[in-house]
Formats: sequence, C-alpha cells, structure tokens
Amino acid sequence: MNAPSTVLVTGGAGFIGSHACVELLDHGFEVIAVDNYSNSTPQVYARVERIAGRFVGAVYELDIRDRPTLSAVFDRHSVDAVVHFAAHKATGESTRMPVEYYDTNVGGTTALLRTMHEHGVHQLVFSSSCTVYGDAGHGPLDETTPPRPTSPYAASKWICEQILADVCHRHPEYTVLCLRYFNPAGAHPSGLLGEDPRGTPENLMPYVAQVAVGRREQLRVFGTDYPTPDGTAIRDYLHVMDTVEAHRVALDHLDDGPGMRVYNLGTGKGSSVLDVVAAFSDACGRPLPSEVAPRRPGDVAELVADASAVTRVWGWRPTRDLTDMCRDAWRFQRLHPRGYEGSARRPHTKH
Ligand code: NAD
Ligand code: WQD
Repeated sequence: MNAPSTVLVTGGAGFIGSHACVELLDHGFEVIAVDNYSNSTPQVYARVERIAGRFVGAVYELDIRDRPTLSAVFDRHSVDAVVHFAAHKATGESTRMPVEYYDTNVGGTTALLRTMHEHGVHQLVFSSSCTVYGDAGHGPLDETTPPRPTSPYAASKWICEQILADVCHRHPEYTVLCLRYFNPAGAHPSGLLGEDPRGTPENLMPYVAQVAVGRREQLRVFGTDYPTPDGTAIRDYLHVMDTVEAHRVALDHLDDGPGMRVYNLGTGKGSSVLDVVAAFSDACGRPLPSEVAPRRPGDVAELVADASAVTRVWGWRPTRDLTDMCRDAWRFQRLHPRGYEGSARRPHTKH
C-alpha cells in the first residue's frame, strides 16, 4: 500500500475536519486545509498544531465553489488525495434552505471534482451520511440498503454519491471512498478540540453538553412514543476519533484499486436519547434536566449501522463507546463553556 503523502482537507476547521487534521498530522501526512469558516473558526488550527506538535502545511480561507481560488491551491501544492468534509449538514435547516444546500454540497463537490480533474488528482475520500437511508426501518443497515433521502441535505449527499460513482465509472483512473457516517460525537481527549456548533445546537450530543455546562436550561426529548424499549429514538453514536481514524485508514487503502466503494461508519450499537442523557449525566456528575417534547418532524425511530463491511475489508473497527464520547465531549464543553470564540486566543506558535 502506497498512502498519499499530501492530503487536501476541505472543511478542515470543522468538527470532524479538525480532528482529521490531527489524525493525519499524527500519522506523517502533509495536510493542506481549506475552509470558508461558515460553520467554524480558524482558531482551531493552532489547537490542531498544538496537539499534533506539527504544523498544518498550509491553511486557506476559501469557498470550494470558487474554482479559480481553489485551483490556485492545487497549483501551489502537489496534492495526492483529497478528503472532502466541507458541506452544510443540518437536516432541518436544509428543508428551509434547499437551494443553499444543493449549491454548497453538490455544487461544492462538482467544483472540487473539476479542479481535481484539471490537476490530475484522482483520489478522494468523501463524507457521506446515514441520512441517505432515510426511514429505512428497524435493524442494522448495511450498504445495500436502498437510499431513500427524505430531506434536501440527504438528497444532496445521495446526488454527490451518484455523481462520484458515475465519474469513477467513466474515468477508471479515479478512486473514491465514500464513507457514510452514522452519528459522530465526542471530542479529542485533550479537551482542546470538540464540537462547537454556531447558534442553538440541532444535534443531541452538543445540546446535552450545553445543558450540562449551564448554557441551556434543559433538553427537550423529541418523542417518547417511538416503538423502542424506552420510547425514545435510537441512533448509532460513533466517537469522532474513531471516525477520523477510519479516514486515515481509508487513505492507506486508496491504492487498493480504482472505482468507488461505499462503507458505513458506525459501531453497530444503538443508544436511545435517554441512554445518552444518562451517560452524559454520569460524565458530568449530575442529573441533567429534560422535558418531553413532541417528535421532531422527519425523525425516524432507529438508525443503526451494520458496519461489518469496513471491518472485513480494512480491519477498521471503533474502539470507543458512549461513555468515552460523553467523557470527552464533557471535557471539551467544561473547558470551553462558550465554545472556541469564548476562549482566549492562543498565538500560532512554533513547536
Ligand atoms: P462542520 O460544519 O463542523 O464542518 C464542515 C466545515 O465545512 C465547516 O468548517 C464549514 O465552515 C466548512 N464549509 C462549509 N461550506 C463550505 C464551502 N462552501 N467552502 C469551504 N468550506 C465550507 O460539520 P462536520 O460535522 O465536521 O461534518 C463534516 C462532513 O461530514 C460534512 O460533509 C457532513 O455532511 C458529514 N457528516 C457529518 C455528520 C455529523 O453528524 N457531524 C454525520 C454524517 C456526515
Ligand atoms: C439524535 C436523536 C432526536 C436534539 C443527524 C442528521 C444526520 C447525520 C447525523 C449528518 C434524535 C433527538 C435531538 C434534541 C432530542 N448528520 N434529539 N433533543 O437526527 O439522528 O442525525 O446527525 O449527516 O443527517 O440528521 O441526530 O443528534 O440531531 O438527533 O431529543 O435537542 O436525538 O430527535 O432522535 P440525527 P441528532
């Protein structure tokens, strides 16, 4: 296996992207990061470098849809492979702003592809999502489950997957590894990096973390009448460090052969909303207030991965559980009660 040495990370300042930068730096990759900071802050790079003890090779503020600017980055650096995280990712928001979602997620991906194509870069790891399965029903879902997107966000990811599959079909020099993540959560164990959404968190784990730190009064549990053991919805939470380790392993497998391959990333273990509240209460040492609220429109009762394919093919398997995710998310939240922007800026120092 010949792993690429210089990797361009789009959305490198985001939640998963920033952790991926650490993982790649830790494993000797040269990292070039681009982001428009629409949902992040450049402050994270100093933290990435502090954890990794190495510099990110170069950092660019740009919108991936701006092809001339993106192209200049490919001109300047000899990029071997791209890990493409940059996207909008909130399901509810996507129903209110479908055009923005298609433009950023689909338009951003085609702009990136075209730029890669012009520069002879043919290796891509793509962030997809379990959301493409829609309301697929009960039981672990494997990659053969037919996608049935139910929101513009989900549709945007499924459209990207189909574009990438077609490009691979017509251009045999391409290798695309498409990873469908279930519910990434947690934080870097140092407490320096974590999930810091702008505005009110849409996702469960960051919302619970903000309740724990006193920034929000209580959690609203969306639906207690699901056909699940405790009546609350079940998801497959995956530690962000396991998530990014899978990307590093994916990079090691880009040379296995051309074409597109799709893998689920999950633990195969479902946790209910009440399980998450209980685990986070244990992590922060006090019971967390919650109230019952109606079901959130578009939510499904259960989404759990059958992630055995990726284990079979690459040997990757998650090693962290919900307790680890809550412990690490709490450490980050406790150290950053108001997120990155509320913390003192650290100078960009040499190591
Ligand atoms: P995030 O919002 O924290 O990170 C995305 C990053 O992309 C942000 O830093 C944002 O500023 C940047 N970005 C957005 N549009 C851009 C553009 N046009 N040009 C340049 N940069 C842009 O989200 P995340 O949770 O880190 O998600 C990363 C990827 O993983 C996304 O593609 C998302 O759809 C996918 N994903 C996330 C989850 C999850 O639950 N977090 C689950 C499945 C899939
Ligand atoms: C989990 C459970 C909520 C908030 C989302 C995206 C999906 C993918 C993963 C990107 C649900 C409940 C939540 C709250 C609650 N992301 N909940 N109170 O909806 O499974 O998936 O993240 O690709 O596309 O849709 O995750 O964290 O929003 O919700 O009760 O304040 O927690 O109803 O059952 P979800 P989530």
